[in-house]
Amino acid sequence: MTVNEKRAWWKEAVIYQIYPRSFADSNGDGIGDLNGITAHLPYLKKLGIDVIWLSPVYRSPNDDNGYDISDYRDIMTEFGTMEDFDRMLETAHSLGLKIVMDLVVNHTSDEHPWFVESRSSLDNPKRDYYIWKDPVDGHAPNNWASCFSGSAWQLDEKTGMYYLHLFSTKQPDLNWENPKVRSEVFDMMNWWCEKGIDGFRMDVISMISKVQTYPDGEVSDGLFGNPMPYVCNGPRVHEFLREMNREVLSKYDLLTVGEAAGVTVEEAKKYANAEQTELNMVFQFEHTDATPGVQTLFGKWTDAKPKLPPLRRILNKWQLELEGKAWNSLYWDNHDQPRAVSRFGNDAPAFRELSAKMIATCLHMMKGTPYIYQGEELGMTNVHWESIGECRDIESINAFRQYVTDNHLMSADEMMRCIDNLGRDNARTPMQWDGSRNAGFSSGEPWIKVNPNYTQINAEKCLADPDSVFWYYHRLISLRHENPIIVYGIFRPLLEDSECIYAYERLMDDKVITVACNWTQDEQDCSLFDDLCGEELISNYAEHKKGKLQPYEARVILH
Ligand code: NOJ
Repeated sequence: MTVNEKRAWWKEAVIYQIYPRSFADSNGDGIGDLNGITAHLPYLKKLGIDVIWLSPVYRSPNDDNGYDISDYRDIMTEFGTMEDFDRMLETAHSLGLKIVMDLVVNHTSDEHPWFVESRSSLDNPKRDYYIWKDPVDGHAPNNWASCFSGSAWQLDEKTGMYYLHLFSTKQPDLNWENPKVRSEVFDMMNWWCEKGIDGFRMDVISMISKVQTYPDGEVSDGLFGNPMPYVCNGPRVHEFLREMNREVLSKYDLLTVGEAAGVTVEEAKKYANAEQTELNMVFQFEHTDATPGVQTLFGKWTDAKPKLPPLRRILNKWQLELEGKAWNSLYWDNHDQPRAVSRFGNDAPAFRELSAKMIATCLHMMKGTPYIYQGEELGMTNVHWESIGECRDIESINAFRQYVTDNHLMSADEMMRCIDNLGRDNARTPMQWDGSRNAGFSSGEPWIKVNPNYTQINAEKCLADPDSVFWYYHRLISLRHENPIIVYGIFRPLLEDSECIYAYERLMDDKVITVACNWTQDEQDCSLFDDLCGEELISNYAEHKKGKLQPYEARVILH
């Protein structure tokens, strides 16, 4: 099979996401920081990754843990100083690691000087930096819900107008229709590029262009309307990104990935088009925003697990339809999602390592750039939240208030089961470095609770055990670096009717890789490998059974 794919370093790279607040605390204040990251760069080098995506480290009042930025050219006080940043960047580069910054420009913090000015008067020169609307019949201009519960509009007493905030009230949306806003953003991006950073992950970049008539959205939970059809992939989003590409991205050798809520395959072909006039790739959310195969009553919330057949249909569709036209990004989890092994695998002690390796194989053998979220390489799991009081995430806290406290639509127990299953704090518990106090994350009181299973699951243990999840990830990463077929080979689905097995092939030149993963805790019939002669690239079992896949078994054969 001849593959017609342009080579690029960002197609061949494996990315590791750091959520700095929860990664490593160097000064004992209970909050992870830049010096903590610098100290652990050799660990990431050992894992073998190429690029680090840093969740936001800019100055922020932390209403949404740094996704509310009050100064794009400064560092969050708790995380350190610009000198610490420069040292981290230099150390990373000296180790051959690249650093990709989070770019949050759909909104700023309400404490950003632009917004402070904008809200100060109707005729302030920065008034049009944000989206202001008059009240309609004494209430909000439309029925849109904020992604963090409640209305997406906040009345500002000073001028008697509402501003739009698709996220928290402290995250007002920037008005991208205003050319001055775009030019401020592009200047700031150029400033970071000149510093030597290696790319941008762009926060909710699919939402920067809104339908200018601001129509009401469809009401599903009886409370607010859904803004997504009017804010995702909006009328000018591609124009804005092509402008960004001309003004900034095309001038440097960057990795760019757009977080693209609501993106469809057709839209992705534009954002990540092969001519590269916009971005390198996007994150799609069809397999993570909803729970495949499960109907939820309220937004994303459910205590159910995804089902394999619909999940596979989604991922296969993205693999097949972007082929040769755009580039996929591959991920199971990030700082907004529960832990991959708890969600897609099985975190019971008997199956945790097996299933963590299985889902990793299933993803890392696909076509696209893989992303690993901190702790995923250890098989870190979700945690049990005793009560909402233990949670720190604004999304969970607001949803609990909206559905339980204010509207009695769910019981507290029901909602806590959903938060245990899907809450974002699951990904934000501190990185488990070793078995010492606070998992070696901090000598102080951590800002969020440590998962009590750290004595069993931690980096020190994994590093000492050649069969650990860590070393399995190491092998997956090396395989990708050594075998162009894993990067560039064409994807072909297999066993598409199976309820239990995810299987596919990758094809390039005269070579084929066959991948099969048992997504269940029971042995399954599978004859794919029976007549195959070739090299086993990786498996989570040392011995195989003819005609079978053992519980959570994953096998990859090159032939
Ligand atoms: C997406 C980010 O990943 C999430 O953490 C954040 O809360 C929202 N965008 C708002 O910035």
